Amino acid sequence: MAEKRPEDGQVSREAVLAALSRIQDPDLHRDIVSLGFVKDEDVAICGGNVKVTITLTTPACPVREQMKRQAEELLLALPGVEHAEVEMQAEVRATRQRGPRPVEGVRNIIAVASNKGGVGKSTIAVNLALALRRFGARVGLLDADLTGPNIPTMLGLPAGFQAERGLSIVERYGLKVVSLGFLLKPGTAVIWRGPMIGTGVRQLLHDVPWSEEGELDYLVVDLPPGTSDASMSLAQEASVTGVVIVTTPNSVSVEDSLKAVSMFERLNVPVFGVVENMSYFVCPHCQGRVDIFGHGLVREVASRLGLDFLGEVPLDPTVREGADRGLPIVEADPDSPVARAIMDIAQRVAAKASVQHFALQSTASG
Ligand SMILES: Nc1ncnc2c1ncn2[C@@H]1O[C@H](COP(=O)(O)OP(=O)(O)OP(=O)(O)O)[C@@H](O)[C@H]1O
Ligand SMILES: [Mg+2]
Repeated sequence: MAEKRPEDGQVSREAVLAALSRIQDPDLHRDIVSLGFVKDEDVAICGGNVKVTITLTTPACPVREQMKRQAEELLLALPGVEHAEVEMQAEVRATRQRGPRPVEGVRNIIAVASNKGGVGKSTIAVNLALALRRFGARVGLLDADLTGPNIPTMLGLPAGFQAERGLSIVERYGLKVVSLGFLLKPGTAVIWRGPMIGTGVRQLLHDVPWSEEGELDYLVVDLPPGTSDASMSLAQEASVTGVVIVTTPNSVSVEDSLKAVSMFERLNVPVFGVVENMSYFVCPHCQGRVDIFGHGLVREVASRLGLDFLGEVPLDPTVREGADRGLPIVEADPDSPVARAIMDIAQRVAAKASVQHFALQSTASG
C-alpha cells in the first residue's frame, strides 16, 4: 500500500474542511461545513495530528456517533494525517418566526396538543421534556392547561404549594417547570373565560424568568384539549417552533385529534407530526402484542395529510402508575420500551426543530 504523504509536509485546513464537507446532515440535506457545524477555528492541525470539533444543532442527534466515525475516517484518509480526533458538541439554535414576540430565554417552543381529551398529551409532554433533558438539552415545561393542570401531579409536586409565596419556576428532574397548579390548593377549580386564559398564557410565557439560569434549548408546552383559547393564545403570543399532535389509534380519536392540525396550520404554527399513544399492549405473561385500539390508521391518515409519523408509544400500566406517583416513566425506567419509544420521538422532534430553524433562516435571507 502506498504511504500517504502530504505534498508540502503539512495538512491544510482547506483539505480538512473539504474532506468534512462530504458529510451530509440527513435531516437538513446539506453538508456539515456549509451548515456551519465546523468552522475554520474548529480545526487544529499539528504535524500529522488533526483535531476537529463538530457542533451539531441538537444534543439529541441520532447520527451523532455515526457522523463522528465518518469524520474520523475521512480525516485519516487525507494525505499526511496520522492521527484524527473528532469531538462532537451541540448548540441548539433559536428558532424565531417573524411576527409573534420571542419568549426571552427560550430558543424553541414545542407544543403538545390534540383536539381530543385524555389521549396522553400531558404524559407525552412530560416525558418528551425529560427525554430531551436526558440527551443533555436545557429544557423547560410549561403547563398551559390552566383550568385542568396535571403537570404538578405527574411530577410529584403538591398542588398549591406556592399559594402563599406566588408562582415561580421549580426545578424538577432537571426540568424548569411552571404550572398554575402550583398556586391552586387541591380541589380548587379555575373557572375562566377565554380572555382570561389568553392573559394567563401570555403571563406564563412572558412574565416568567425562563432565562434566569441561562437560556432554555426547548420549552415544552402542555396544551389543554381542543382548538382552545390556550392554543390560540400560545400561537399569538409566542413564536412556536412546532407542535406535536397526540392521538390514540382508534378512528374516533384520530379524526378528533387531527382537527387540531388544521387549526395550527391556520395559525401559522408548523405541525411536526403525529404521535400514536397507547398504540399497543405487550402482554406481560405471553409477551404477545395486542392492538387494543386497532393499528395502522394513524400512519395512514398522517401520510394522507402529509404529516410525519413521529412514533408510537405502547400502552403500559406503569406509565399511569408513574404519572399518579409523580415519577414519569422516562425518569423512573429509561430503558423500558415506553421510555425508549419516547426517546426516539424526542430525537425526531429535535431534528424537526433544527430543520425549522434553517427553513426560517433561508426564507429570511432569501
Ligand atoms: N402510554 C400510556 N400507557 C398507559 N397509560 C397512559 C399512557 N399514556 C397516558 N396514559 C394515562 O392515561 C391518562 C390520560 O393521560 P393524560 O392525562 O396524559 O392525557 P391528556 O391528553 O393530557 O388528558 P387531558 O385532555 O385531560 O389533558 C392518564 O391516567 C395517563 O397516566
Ligand atoms: Mg393533559
